[in-house]
Amino acid sequence: MKYNRKLVLVCTGKDCKSEGAKRLQKELSHDPALKGKCKWIKTKCLDHCKSAPVVVVGDFFCKKATVQKVSELIKKS
Ligand code: FES
Repeated sequence: MKYNRKLVLVCTGKDCKSEGAKRLQKELSHDPALKGKCKWIKTKCLDHCKSAPVVVVGDFFCKKATVQKVSELIKKS
C-alpha cells in the first residue's frame, strides 16, 4: 500500500522553537496548495541548531527554513 502524503519533519527543539518552527508549521499547514498533501511530524532536536529552524521533507534537509523554501521543497518532492 502506498502512502500518498509527504512526511514533513519539523524540529521543535529549543532553538528551532525560538526561531519560529511552530509558527512556520502552522502557516504551512494552512496553505491551501498543501492541504491534505502532508503529514506533519514534530521532532526533538535534529542536531543542526545553528541552522534553526530545521525542517526535513523526504530526503531533503531544509536549514533556516522559511515558508517559501519548505513549500517549494514539498511541491518538488
Ligand atoms: S533545536 Fe532544532 S536542530 Fe536543534
